[in-house]
Amino acid sequence: MLKQVPVAVLCSGGGTNLQAILDSAAAGAIPSGEVVLVVSDNASAYALERAAKAGVETAVFDRKVISDRREREARILALLQERKIGLVVLAGFMTILSEKFTRAFENRIINVHPSLIPSFCGEGYYGLKVHEAALRRGVKVTGATVHFVNEVCDGGPIILQKAVCVEEGDTPETLQKRVMREAEWQILPAAAELVCKTILDEQER
Ligand code: GAR
Repeated sequence: MLKQVPVAVLCSGGGTNLQAILDSAAAGAIPSGEVVLVVSDNASAYALERAAKAGVETAVFDRKVISDRREREARILALLQERKIGLVVLAGFMTILSEKFTRAFENRIINVHPSLIPSFCGEGYYGLKVHEAALRRGVKVTGATVHFVNEVCDGGPIILQKAVCVEEGDTPETLQKRVMREAEWQILPAAAELVCKTILDEQER
């Protein structure tokens, strides 16, 4: 019987969401899971340094080195299965996963997206582009969503959402920062705990 679900976090960049998970875990707020692996498709991702500082094992499958998306994905999948990962967290991971991958971890992959899905989501909406689109449309409220990942980009069942106000004079950068601070860094660790707890509860049945 597992006491904690082994968690892998997949990142491509700065890794502030990874940091939020590591900090929450250190504070005892993710008792049902343990981050055992951080995977990046970008060798220069700062997320890798954050993982190393926290003493978490890292693995790199660099986009520039393994340019074939299918091959990269197959190697990541093999590693996750070898390590018996129970939950995969996409935290700013910029490769869209194939159906083969999402099926292998059905209901075991969650993603954080920087808008209130179904607004400003799907292919082409990532990072700053999401906030540029929100400002262009003139919405007064935006936010973040954590959802399960299936074969439809940003289309899986929603787990948690949090709204954030757009302020007068916001730029994509100021809005991104506020959405991260007020929403993403809170709901991603909370959702990770929620899903890990459900996995543990299911194994007891
Ligand atoms: C976050 O804002 C995350 O929501 C977004 O990329 C950023 C990564 O920042 N993800 C997407 O846009 C996915 N469609 P981080 O590396 O500092 O966590």
